[in-house]
Amino acid sequence: MVTALTDEVIIKHAEPDNLPSVIEINRSELPENYPPSFFMDLLERFPNYFLVAVLAKSNEVVGYVVCRIEMGFPSEGGFSIVKKGHVVSLAVRKPFHNRGIGTMLMKTVLEEMVRNSIDESYLEVRINNEKAIRLYKKLGYKVVRELPHYYLDGTTGLLMVKKLR
Ligand SMILES: CC(C)(COP(=O)(O)OP(=O)(O)OC[C@H]1O[C@@H](n2cnc3c(N)ncnc32)[C@H](O)[C@@H]1OP(=O)(O)O)[C@@H](O)C(=O)NCCC(=O)NCCS
Repeated sequence: MVTALTDEVIIKHAEPDNLPSVIEINRSELPENYPPSFFMDLLERFPNYFLVAVLAKSNEVVGYVVCRIEMGFPSEGGFSIVKKGHVVSLAVRKPFHNRGIGTMLMKTVLEEMVRNSIDESYLEVRINNEKAIRLYKKLGYKVVRELPHYYLDGTTGLLMVKKLR
């Protein structure tokens, strides 16, 4: 799968070689960092839902989105077991912000979820991360509830959900 975004940036499935760049972007852009084994495990288990944005000319990774597919109760209530696409982490290298790369990573991974009959997508976001919240709302995610002290520094999280079917 390769989606051309602009002349210079393409969205594609992550490969093991991309992981050092992904880990570096995660460390530089987000307070929530994960060990290499965490990313490796997700790439092995859910390769369809681990995407990178790369510069076409140099193959440099400038962004990523990584998800986990889970079974559970619907986030908005109910007792049937559904398939959920949990967006675990999304980040774009700062010099490449505001060019539509984050939006395209999310749109592409949501398309993959729809193709595979995933029932809903959910994610957690810091309550003060206005830019990310706006992006998720633009894509159809809704705030379901606040998660007090969700983050290690005590910041409240928002649980956001988008129904896919
Ligand atoms: C959140 C994040 C992933 C967004 O990535 P991004 O690539 O900058 O996002 P986009 O460019 O798709 O969208 C951001 C804005 O740029 C605008 N934009 C999109 N394409 C554009 C273009 N071609 N030209 C100008 N502006 C554009 C969008 O309209 C959007 O503005 P809006 O929010 O007012 O609608 C990025 O800010 C980031 O990595 N932040 C740090 C990590 C983080 O917070 N991750 C989320 C944790 S839950």
